[in-house]
Amino acid sequence: MKFKLLTILIFLASIIMAKSYYSPSKTLTLNFRINQKGEFLYQLKYKDIQVIKESRLGIELKNSESLLDGFEIIEIDTNSFFEIWKPIWGEVKKITNNYNQVQIKLLQPESKRIIIIKFRIYDDGLGFRYEFPKQENLKHFIIQEERSQFALTGDHIAFWIPADYDSQEYVYTKSKLSEINALKGHDFIEIYTKSIPGENFIQTPLMLKTIEGLYVNIHEASLLDYPVYYLQVDKQNLILETHLCPDALGNKAYLQTPSKTPWRTIIISDKAESILSSKLILNLNEPPALENYEWIKPKKYIGIWWGMHIGIYSWNYSDEVNIKIDEVDWRTLSPNNRHGATTERTKLYIDFAAKHGFDAVLIEGWNVGWEDWLGKWKENVFDFVTPYPDFDIDEVTQYAKAKNVELIMHHETSSSVSNYERRLDEAFNFMKKYNYKTVKTGYVGPIIPRGEHHDGQWMVNHYIRVLKKALKEKICINSHESVRLTGLHRTYPNWLSAEAARGNEFNAWSSGNPPEHETILPFTRLIGGPMDYTPGIFQIKLDYYNPNSIYQVNTTLAKQLALYVIIYSPLQMAADLPENYERFLDAFQFIKEVPVDWKDTKVLYAEPGDYIVIARQDKNSGNWFMGAITDENPREFSIKTDFLDEGKYVAEIYRDSESAHWKYNPMSYKIEKKFINKNSHIKLKLAPGGGFAIAIKKIE
Ligand code: NOJ
Ligand code: CA
Repeated sequence: MKFKLLTILIFLASIIMAKSYYSPSKTLTLNFRINQKGEFLYQLKYKDIQVIKESRLGIELKNSESLLDGFEIIEIDTNSFFEIWKPIWGEVKKITNNYNQVQIKLLQPESKRIIIIKFRIYDDGLGFRYEFPKQENLKHFIIQEERSQFALTGDHIAFWIPADYDSQEYVYTKSKLSEINALKGHDFIEIYTKSIPGENFIQTPLMLKTIEGLYVNIHEASLLDYPVYYLQVDKQNLILETHLCPDALGNKAYLQTPSKTPWRTIIISDKAESILSSKLILNLNEPPALENYEWIKPKKYIGIWWGMHIGIYSWNYSDEVNIKIDEVDWRTLSPNNRHGATTERTKLYIDFAAKHGFDAVLIEGWNVGWEDWLGKWKENVFDFVTPYPDFDIDEVTQYAKAKNVELIMHHETSSSVSNYERRLDEAFNFMKKYNYKTVKTGYVGPIIPRGEHHDGQWMVNHYIRVLKKALKEKICINSHESVRLTGLHRTYPNWLSAEAARGNEFNAWSSGNPPEHETILPFTRLIGGPMDYTPGIFQIKLDYYNPNSIYQVNTTLAKQLALYVIIYSPLQMAADLPENYERFLDAFQFIKEVPVDWKDTKVLYAEPGDYIVIARQDKNSGNWFMGAITDENPREFSIKTDFLDEGKYVAEIYRDSESAHWKYNPMSYKIEKKFINKNSHIKLKLAPGGGFAIAIKKIE
């Protein structure tokens, strides 16, 4: 009898061992099993190439037996899913969501606890998550660590930034996995140094190019009620393991059954271009809860913003740190004060927006509190409802309304989040009173409650609380210094954009972003969702404002135009000063015309760290817009325009001049027109650190 039972068990185990699970077109193969210790192991293949070697999954609990081993499989459920859905806004009009799901119920007989591991196998990748069903022996629990592994097949090339519980604003490093050293060569902001877990910890989205030439992206989807995870790199064995952002006490997550973790995602392709067009992360998020999103409008905006970053204006009204720069007069309207957000200047910006067809104007530094916002770590900094005396909010609201321009609210919380939460109702009511429909939130500095981190469970819940309240009030959010995105804009389409990476602003006050930066961002940060990168800087060398400045934006002017196509966001800023756009109205024309909502997207050529060429079709007019960018190397592309329909088109080309160079001659560009059709080839050169942008319009 005993013998018989054993044979049956071995037989069952071998079934489990032998069974493979496939993606709908069998591109991906998933295997899993339980070993003698009762550990749960999975592995993944892409077209017969091993991508993830056998890797362990499991969760460590605090003060309680862990969910790492001693498991047996008690049930396996499979099913398939197919849908086509339409995002409220986005890079394409329709998205196909097609996967095979495997759900494995695991029992830990000793503790009598059950967990479920759910896999969704897509043709372009895998998602998996842990679920904790409601049960007697697992009610409330604290997660000490998640120990999901990704065992890699070789010493791949990684595009990575160091793990930091509070920031993602780093330059990417390209290196072999074995050469990762997250403590070297990164300009950590001093107040944050306590939040670097160690030298072998990196962030997601992580982009890999494998030794077999595959492109693999590791990230997460639907991050709700759980901390961000980072990856600890075992450089010897080439295994990545999850490490969760801790709270002030060092705990990771507080959960109550039923509950679940976010999806851990692996996007795979033999083409870099397909990584950029993958919709896996969005598909793993839930559809929106409400029906009517008519009020959510993608938009282009300008703002009283760059002037502060380059130092010609100040956020604060009482101008303590006066620098002499405003003695040169044309840049400021209030000669004794560098305050940027004055009534007069706001009206000028509204005029400019109205004249050039922009939807909105962002005004930073409009409210009391900027005297105290940085480095003082005060709890009560901003109240979000008190304008400075030289900002007449009634007057600017009326002015904007008359000119049909929207104002974008700015809530810099200075990371005093408890203060922000206390004042949120009042702050949103104030916005509604003055007709603001979008708010840019900001989380500069260490979090209050003290000891919490930007990426912890408490803050993740905060961002969602704000988002949900905003949704109820029909307000859109653009969050800066928030958690990086995980596709939640499918569920909450009012999360229009976020920063959560190193934006263009770094070029204003630091050595900036190297020319390859924007060729990596779409493969990393943007995998999770749109970014408010704030492109469009035309005055590239900053000694124009201050002869002593050694800073510049590490780009050509034409590349700044291309970024509107390359870096997708339904909220795009024309970030430079209106004065500078007036100097280059012919190039500005592209920014005026480029849409922010698309019917279709074709990623034509891409290689992380080197170049990206994308063509997108306007959702409304059907016209096409193309962008191409390169790193510090010059390049040439011959682009077949076979994505066009039949008919004649005019291509308005904005490109680097023959002598353009990001460092030596960044503002030199040419604009030319060509007549093309679907059989044409457009051959163009990109300068070192350069790019091109093309508007392709149908001729009736
Ligand atoms: C950092 C944000 O990224 C930037 O856009 C903003 O101007 C400053 N914080 C001030 O809030
Ligand atoms: Ca920032």
